[in-house]
Amino acid sequence: MDKATTNGNGQLVTDKQTRHKSVFVETYGCQMNEYDSEIVREILRRNDFTLAESVDSAGVILLNTCAIREGAHDKIRSRIGELRHIKKQNKGTILGVLGCMAQNLKKELLEDNTGVDLIAGPDSYKALPVMIDRVHNTGEREFKLTLSEYETYADVFPTNRHGTNAWIAVMRGCDNYCTFCVVPMTRGRERSRDPYNVIEEVKQLTGHGFKQVTLLGQNVNSYKFKGFDFAKLITAVSRIDGIERIRFTSPHPKDFPESLLEVVATNPKACKHIHLPLQAGSNRVLDAMNRTYTREYFVELAERMRALIPGLVLTTDVIVGFPTETEDEFQETLAVMHEVKFDSAFMFKYSERKETMASRTMPDDISDEIKTDRIVRLVDQQRQISYQRNQLHLGDTFNVMVEGYGKKPKQLLGRNDGNKIVVFPDTGAKPGDFVNVKIEEVTPNTLIGVAV
Ligand code: 5AD
Ligand code: SF4
Repeated sequence: MDKATTNGNGQLVTDKQTRHKSVFVETYGCQMNEYDSEIVREILRRNDFTLAESVDSAGVILLNTCAIREGAHDKIRSRIGELRHIKKQNKGTILGVLGCMAQNLKKELLEDNTGVDLIAGPDSYKALPVMIDRVHNTGEREFKLTLSEYETYADVFPTNRHGTNAWIAVMRGCDNYCTFCVVPMTRGRERSRDPYNVIEEVKQLTGHGFKQVTLLGQNVNSYKFKGFDFAKLITAVSRIDGIERIRFTSPHPKDFPESLLEVVATNPKACKHIHLPLQAGSNRVLDAMNRTYTREYFVELAERMRALIPGLVLTTDVIVGFPTETEDEFQETLAVMHEVKFDSAFMFKYSERKETMASRTMPDDISDEIKTDRIVRLVDQQRQISYQRNQLHLGDTFNVMVEGYGKKPKQLLGRNDGNKIVVFPDTGAKPGDFVNVKIEEVTPNTLIGVAV
């Protein structure tokens, strides 16, 4: 017989009824998805759902998914396969797919044997409580994939955050249509949140002890709300008591007016780190990618940033093997990376995405062998550059915000203002504390020092 308990409203319910109110959310992909998963948890919590500790104890398993490259899809497909077994053991378990893959692969996910009971796109999370109840009551599949021009979840502040940094989405969607990118299709049109609402959320976060926020958006520096732009938003957030560090990601090189560079340069709370996605070094490829800037514009912007912002840490994203990219054009990517000397870089092999302009008009004609050869050479060059950049820090002292423990025993790990990882012997400092650390040794990815 089912065990009987009472729910949040004091009504008598049985285990069978409560089980589908217990949810586990698993996240794949970018920071925006991490933030969105918190939004989903908050929406469900407000609707009498509880959060399960693991997939085994959950009545509802939700995968918040990514579509940016095929690798992400493959990983999630195999996870769905594993969860089908759990569904067989725990009869009645509901499996849902949320986020970008749901939006991108709706047909595949709704096929008969996938085991997926519900799919919901990034603008449909407020419907989840009703969708889950319906699946539970009818056994029918549910899907909601309409993209909205307005949904910003401004009325849902996640309350259960962990760690030392709080992510906060200030804008959603993207109108740039880079030809390789699936994001405009999966996340829809650009929209920005009211700055007062962002400030309210940051105030709530500082009330919970957060000292650092990272402002998030698919194209974060195109943030605009009735004439209130991104530079103004950073300034407004920096005036909130308790905020000590403001980071942002990911910007587009086309949206860096002088006023924004000036805020990053002069506002002590704006971190001296800019992630500036290059994508490619050849003007022909940049044009085919619809990036709307040239190699010359990019290099000049990076130089201007470094001149205006002493100590600036510059990082980037690059794609190799975009359709029709020649060896000489790849060499141009190597050359720009060599010229700009990024502190670090995320480097990717081109992955054709459904519904993008590139997939419709350009065959994926660079073999995987060539893509691999190019990425190996690029990673190798970047490793040396990252090492050289880090060597310049030998003897520097940085104010480090502690995040937790390092890999070695009795070692703390934190980040400096430029977002570089710093490890040092344990001083007893706690996560969120600031410690001055003098750098004595470096690797391409880490600064190693002692507290001073
Ligand atoms: N193939 C490979 N990399 C991609 N990115 C975006 N779309 C693709 C794709 N189709 C990379 C870009 C972007 C980062 C988040 O992911 O470099 O900046
Ligand atoms: Fe994708 Fe380009 Fe928009 Fe970034 S700016 S999310 S790469 S379309």
